[in-house]
Amino acid sequence: MSIRQITTNPPEIEVETIVVGVYTEGGFSHPAALVDRATGGLISGLMETGEITGRKNETTSLLRPAGVRADHVLVVGLGDREQVDRGVAHRAAGTAAKRLASRRRDSVAFCLSNEWSAELTEAAVAGAVVGFYGQDLYKSEKRVQPPDDMAWYGNADGVVTGQTLGESINFTRRLINSGPHELYPESFANHVTQVARMCGMECTVWNHARIKTENCGALLAVAQGSEHEPRLVEMRYRGADENAPTLALVGKGITFDSGGLSLKSSEGMKTMKSDMAGAATVAGAMRAIAQMRLPVNVLGVMALAENMTGPAAYKLGDVITARNETTIEVLNTDAEGRLVLADALDIARTSGVHSIIDVATLTGACVVALGTDVTGVMTNNQAWCDELLKAAHQCGEPIWQLPMFEAYGEAIKSEVADIRNVGKGRWGGAITAAKFLERFVGNLPWAHLDIAGPAFRDSAKPWCDAGASGEMVRTLVEVAARWADREEEVVFE
Ligand code: BES
Ligand code: MN
Ligand code: ZN
Repeated sequence: MSIRQITTNPPEIEVETIVVGVYTEGGFSHPAALVDRATGGLISGLMETGEITGRKNETTSLLRPAGVRADHVLVVGLGDREQVDRGVAHRAAGTAAKRLASRRRDSVAFCLSNEWSAELTEAAVAGAVVGFYGQDLYKSEKRVQPPDDMAWYGNADGVVTGQTLGESINFTRRLINSGPHELYPESFANHVTQVARMCGMECTVWNHARIKTENCGALLAVAQGSEHEPRLVEMRYRGADENAPTLALVGKGITFDSGGLSLKSSEGMKTMKSDMAGAATVAGAMRAIAQMRLPVNVLGVMALAENMTGPAAYKLGDVITARNETTIEVLNTDAEGRLVLADALDIARTSGVHSIIDVATLTGACVVALGTDVTGVMTNNQAWCDELLKAAHQCGEPIWQLPMFEAYGEAIKSEVADIRNVGKGRWGGAITAAKFLERFVGNLPWAHLDIAGPAFRDSAKPWCDAGASGEMVRTLVEVAARWADREEEVVFE
């Protein structure tokens, strides 16, 4: 799909559909006012009767209105004019796109505003690109499809980066939505390698032998029940000076989580193709960061394995030795995410990076605590976590911090090894998992994102199809952008 930028007067644009935005309290965006005037007050009439309220993500179709060239005008609500932020813009454009995606169209022109900042435009364009893409990967007839031609009216700034961002989110979503029949560690690594090549990034894939010589005992243990070998992908983007500090993004990449010998129920396993969402989020964010040429250095580390029950599967009672030489007593093979991350975090730590963010569909407990729409964040460094929280708020991606009191660490003490891979009780499971990860980051500023809730949705949102959401790609890109904007070296204490 191509996105061109246009300045034609909205009523004159020759496309199949134009999208205009209205605010609550009868507020017109500039393009909506032009369309309203050209149609002799069609939109204001519907607002007077209460048919159109301008509430967020409300959509109203006007067919062949006299006075405009387009066959179809879609009016989308933007809510309160004063409260439009990037999240609102992203979701409104996504909602309009998703409505229009139900059948093939030649051309759609988005005329949401001509006074929005580049950031708002970027968020909206990304939202539209995401809204036009669905989970129907394997359907003969797509239920969600983009138009052949998409035009964006108004401010040109943000259109190109918005498309890059949206396509990167869709790259993440496609990886997550892919079935485990075709997406396993090796094929995941191949997809990432291709994208790295396209964006001019360095990408190194560790095969089984290399993972072994690097002493990644925890990653190896998780993978050993599967016929698919594990992979460890290191992706490097150099956008800044060689001496500039490097940001590390680390992702959990379990391409299928059966639970291993601590087998999941059939119901619990249904969506476990999505257990590589953390790694896919890292890959998508790196793609966007590189294509936008952000002036930062970023290292991406993805730990890829399939958690299965084969004859060689790791067992309860096994004691494994992680790359940093910590010994771990395995008491539940379904707590595998923290194991593969243990080695990946250690690789990041020993690569001389400045600070770390990991992303993982780590615990059902986090979903119990925060619900399905909110990402949990846990940290060893409040200043670093605040950076991440700010970035997420600016993007409009819901996030909430959970505490890391020392006492939570008690639960992962072991009688036979340094630590055990599950807590003693089931309470506070999201936090005991984070306490486990903390053992592998040394003194570096680190924040852990548990996306078990939002990464994969059972039902669609108005702005995005069900299945993979691509949640947190935008936040990670924003963290990198803010990092690039720093005036001077920041030390997180
Ligand atoms: N991948 C799961 C977590 C998960 C659950 C993600 C539901 C998305 C939706 C993870 O590997 C897991 O199985 N965690 C266990 C940990 C437990 C054994 C301590 C869990 O949450 O039950
Ligand atoms: Mn598991
Ligand atoms: Zn898992």
